[in-house]
Amino acid sequence: MSMRYEEGTVFANKSIAVATISFGVLVSACGPRPVSFREDVQPILQHNCAVCHSNGGVGYKVSGFSVVSYTTVMKGTKFGPMVIPGSSLQSNLVWLLKHGAHPSIDMPKICAQMADHGGVCAVASSSARRLPQREVTLIAAWIDQGARNN
Ligand code: HEC
Repeated sequence: MSMRYEEGTVFANKSIAVATISFGVLVSACGPRPVSFREDVQPILQHNCAVCHSNGGVGYKVSGFSVVSYTTVMKGTKFGPMVIPGSSLQSNLVWLLKHGAHPSIDMPKICAQMADHGGVCAVASSSARRLPQREVTLIAAWIDQGARNN
């Protein structure tokens, strides 16, 4: 039993099944596990944003926002932070991801911008895509939990 407590909700569905079998005893004990920057958030950013938001990428050149490390994510754009620790509501990053007002879904414009900045349009063949709701929620939860370097 104690081992099951420690497993937490890493595998949420499994936990729910276990909790059900145990007549709900585990439900209150298993709060959601903290979202990890390294394991949860950074892979999403790497997969969907790095093609433009790392050294040499058009998004980085235009906005100054880079996803290569915790430090650069927290630094934000050349105009200021995109992440306000503890408040996803005040974090422009979440606003931007939620409302889809993002140039990554505007391919012709992006390719033109890339050409302006001396780049080729490598985006169409990259893994970048608009984030599903589940991933936006995960990033918001990470911010609400303090946006830690965990
Ligand atoms: C296809 C290239 C591309 C991809 C992929 C991309 N971006 Fe961008 N991003 C841009 C460009 C170009 C800009 C600058 C837009 C402008 O200011 O006109 C930008 C701007 C931004 C800004 C600054 C917005 C502002 O108001 O200053 C943030 C934050 C950002 N992107 C986050 C992300 C995140 C997070 C992802 C991944 C989910 C992502 N971008 C994926 C190209 C991209």
